[in-house]
Amino acid sequence: MKRIAKVIAILSIAALCASAAIAAEGGNPKKGKYLYKKNCKTCHVEGAEGGPMTPLKKTQAQWDRFFEEKGHACGAKAGMSEQDIKDVQQFLFDHAADSDQPETCG
Ligand code: HEC
Repeated sequence: MKRIAKVIAILSIAALCASAAIAAEGGNPKKGKYLYKKNCKTCHVEGAEGGPMTPLKKTQAQWDRFFEEKGHACGAKAGMSEQDIKDVQQFLFDHAADSDQPETCG
């Protein structure tokens, strides 16, 4: 019985991940994660000028606000295109503190 519950739990998590990927609007979260690691983490790790940062650091509303107000300044510093920034926004939004999958799913 326990085992069945575990299988169901795993399947529903997989379904959630799949639906999140399909529901993504404007940005590609998988690409966003890659771009985030490549471009944002250069300045956002312990000891670097931007300080440590993870998707969990903000809620979904806070991420949207950040990207509206100054996300472009940070993205521009990293030499990113508008679309690249959108992808990163989608990745951070999908894994925000109040999201279904805070900093999980790949
Ligand atoms: C060239 C270095 C650099 C790069 C690259 C960079 N940042 Fe930043 N970031 C900073 C610095 C410095 C600050 C703090 C000062 C400020 O607010 O301008 C900051 C501030 C922030 C903050 C504000 C923290 C808060 O709590 O409000 C967020 C969020 C952020 N960056 C996200 C990003 C994201 C996302 C990317 C990639 C698209 C990125 N940064 C790329 C240097 C950088």
